[in-house]
Amino acid sequence: MIKESSVIYNYYQNENDIPEDEKTLIKKALQARENAYARYSDFMVGAAILMEDGTIVTGNNQENAAYPSGLCAERVTIYHAGAMYPNMKMLKLAVVGGMRGCDVDTPVAPCGACRQAILEYSQKQGAPIEIIFAGTKTAPAIKVDDIEDLLPFCFGKDFLQK
Ligand code: THU
Repeated sequence: MIKESSVIYNYYQNENDIPEDEKTLIKKALQARENAYARYSDFMVGAAILMEDGTIVTGNNQENAAYPSGLCAERVTIYHAGAMYPNMKMLKLAVVGGMRGCDVDTPVAPCGACRQAILEYSQKQGAPIEIIFAGTKTAPAIKVDDIEDLLPFCFGKDFLQK
């Protein structure tokens, strides 16, 4: 038996296509990106999470001379949000990135490990987290409604039950 799965996503070609709250979130991620500590890769990433009460939590990638000790912007941000507001839902996450000093139009999608971290918080709160990603400008940007759109056949907490 062959089955098929597909992903439905929004493609925002221009800034005008983007809803105001998401535009604000992308801009916050772009601001946060300016403080990325990316001295080894020069790949600068920023992220911003819109919380249920309207608070926006931001972060960026943090690198380390011992390379694997560094952490992506998405995880810096989502762990910060989880630590600061353990009982508050996360509604939307914006991610932007590109090499230092370059203009990038192609939306930068979260890496596999970050997708797994986003899945964890989505399952923890029992509600999806919308994900919006862009390059180094507000648009073009892509939005998915749920991490499972980026991580099909995912491994989550339900497997750890007897
Ligand atoms: N990076 C992120 O911050 N997010 C991603 O989703 C992909 C990669 C960072 C990690 C590292 O600091 C640099 O980009 C190059 O991989």
